[in-house]
Amino acid sequence: MVTAAEVQTTVEAFEDPQFGKNLKSLKMLKGVSLDGSSATIQIELPTPAYPNRPALEDAIQSSVRSAHADVDQVNVQFTSVVRGKDSGAKVGLKVKNVIAVGSGKGGVGKSTVAASLAYGLKHYGATVGLMDADVYGPSIPHLLGATGQPAMKQIQTPDGKTIERIVPIEVDGIKLMSMGFMVGEDQAIVWRGPMLHKALTQFLQQTEWGELDYLVVDMPPGTGDVALTLSQMVQLAGAVVVCTPQKVALLDAGKAISMFKTVKIPILGMVENMTGEIFGQGGAKKKAEEMGVSFLGELPSIAEVRVRGDEGKISALVNEENPAQQPILDITSNVAMEIAKEILKNPTMPTLEIL
Ligand SMILES: Nc1ncnc2c1ncn2[C@@H]1O[C@H](COP(=O)(O)OP(=O)(O)O)[C@@H](O)[C@H]1O
Ligand SMILES: [Mg+2]
Repeated sequence: MVTAAEVQTTVEAFEDPQFGKNLKSLKMLKGVSLDGSSATIQIELPTPAYPNRPALEDAIQSSVRSAHADVDQVNVQFTSVVRGKDSGAKVGLKVKNVIAVGSGKGGVGKSTVAASLAYGLKHYGATVGLMDADVYGPSIPHLLGATGQPAMKQIQTPDGKTIERIVPIEVDGIKLMSMGFMVGEDQAIVWRGPMLHKALTQFLQQTEWGELDYLVVDMPPGTGDVALTLSQMVQLAGAVVVCTPQKVALLDAGKAISMFKTVKIPILGMVENMTGEIFGQGGAKKKAEEMGVSFLGELPSIAEVRVRGDEGKISALVNEENPAQQPILDITSNVAMEIAKEILKNPTMPTLEIL
């Protein structure tokens, strides 16, 4: 009769199709038990946005059944714990992964993609924050229909000091910070370098983000100063570069990629937005290949995206059935998996308990 230890050995050697490594080295196997001819296998996914769980379940089941003739039932149970880079450690933030969403120029749908990504991650069950670092053209409050002013809160530190903290605005369970809450969206601000740095420091360091799996940051287009400040404060999980399929936009995206590389922010990949009749299709995928970065998916050009954004109901793109829903969830999964892959490749990841 087969033993639980033998089944465990089989499952440990099973190669995860997404990461191309066995479950033991990925530390994804959390338990194996055997009751007669029925095995129960507990798998801990590194992100709840792991794509196509049924396929993984099937593959594990067949691998166990084919290795052990006397096991006839295989139950696979999934849980997930987001693996993170401990992105915010340097500034005392309990944020596992900070994701920058950038672009070479404005108007390509960067804020739309950033907000959709936040809702996508939330949809999969992650705890999420969304920070609008586009201090020149904040649009996150508008897209989410968020109003109000963040409150200040006094906090006692363990050594008896009183410090002031900003309480972020919360919408649909997503914590938000934006200059739009402070100055009104239409008000133009002229920033000097030190002011910009100070504002971002407050947004990150003095805001009560709490524990987050992912903090999505909507970056201002182009310029490198915000990216530089950000990279000095937190260890970013990486940057998502958004572009439209036209040639010019792709050139700009190339510049954005170089800019992120210059300030040592890893590139998670490119998203093609507004794919469709007007702008064409496939340009970003080709560009991503050329530049040796991953392609994270495309969001078609559809009226629903613009209308929902204008209404302050960008949430509906993820939460209601519509043509943008699946593309957004696919992009979300790809981004989360890129981060997980990066971490699983990186030997400096915090060690997790082994079975
Ligand atoms: N996939 C899309 N389909 C249709 N309209 C879109 C799409 N993505 C963005 N838009 C619209 O394009 C405009 C610019 O988008 P926005 O996210 O504000 O861009 P950025 O942050 O890059 O300046 C907005 O009106 C938005 O609703
Ligand atoms: Mg924007």
